[in-house]
Amino acid sequence: MNNQITLLPGDGIGPEVVAEAQKVLNAVSEKFSVDFSYETGLAGGIAIDETGNPLPEETLGKCLNSRGVLLGAVGGPKWSDPTAKVRPEQGLLQLRKSLGVFANIRPVKVFSALAEASPLKADRVENVDIVFVRELTGGIYFGTPQGREDVAEGRSGFDTMRYNEMEIRRVLHVAFKLAQQRSKKVTSVDKANVLATMRVWREVATEVSQEYPDVEYEDILVDAMAMYLINRPGDFDVVVTGNMFGDILSDEASMITGSLGMLPSASLGEEGSVGLFEPIHGSAPDIAGQGIANPLATILSTAMMLRSSFGLNDAAVAVETAVDQVLADGYRSADIAKAGEDSVGTQQMGDLVVERILL
Ligand code: IPM
Ligand code: MG
Repeated sequence: MNNQITLLPGDGIGPEVVAEAQKVLNAVSEKFSVDFSYETGLAGGIAIDETGNPLPEETLGKCLNSRGVLLGAVGGPKWSDPTAKVRPEQGLLQLRKSLGVFANIRPVKVFSALAEASPLKADRVENVDIVFVRELTGGIYFGTPQGREDVAEGRSGFDTMRYNEMEIRRVLHVAFKLAQQRSKKVTSVDKANVLATMRVWREVATEVSQEYPDVEYEDILVDAMAMYLINRPGDFDVVVTGNMFGDILSDEASMITGSLGMLPSASLGEEGSVGLFEPIHGSAPDIAGQGIANPLATILSTAMMLRSSFGLNDAAVAVETAVDQVLADGYRSADIAKAGEDSVGTQQMGDLVVERILL
């Protein structure tokens, strides 16, 4: 059986948090008697520096040969000149496209030990348990034509938002199947009052919903959804939406928890294909190299990989439980510590999780 995991540490705090996730995987190997083999690849800004390409062929080859890919983060000020020819983010988009991971699963759960870190009032966040299903390989991120040109009025830039029925249908099915295992509610977010793309989205979403009579279905316009996530976030179960709206709303939703550094994600394609797992926080260049980044989102992404790519549900639960215990025992990294509270560094946080897995 292919037990290869490809590690793409990437940029900024990526290498630090991926190192802790690998320690956790080693602990899982020991505890559950499974073997993983690892490959490490260059991706993002570091890959541009070393090869000129944010996703070198060699890296993609390793990813395609593995069961799961664990990515730290890509990007940083060094590579963010808007006129640059190559950007780290292009590597990530190309990786998603090449792996065919069309469904990006982003759970937004409030960790009870951290509930007070939320900027929202406690009664609003108590019952928050949302899973975003963001379409990841289509929409305005990939539509053509895309580019820039000089016109009479000056510089002009353009992108194309486009979805076909197959793309909408398959991600909606992921959302409904997920809802069946949860609270049986799907909210589809669109902008059907303005965008033609989104009228097709709503039509297809409504059709798919009829195949799941056991699941409650609603559609909400994206601007209204931006409000509801703040004033009634506890009302949602599975939220499915297109690529760009999903990008924006999932960042907004992450703030409900008050702990961006805690949120994992899984990007999945057809059954049995290689999955891509990454924390949803970015490369945090301001704290890179200081040993203070929170590795828990990457560790929780690893749990998602154990469950979805390897079918190791017990191991996934062991990792998630260990994280809960570390928090319950009062340990905090700097991003989730209260003012004046002691905090632990990246490596110590990893060690604390490992100890609890091996107990
Ligand atoms: C995300 C990120 C990426 C995206 C960037 C880094 C390309 O914001 O995963 O949400 O926009 O998809
Ligand atoms: Mg984003």
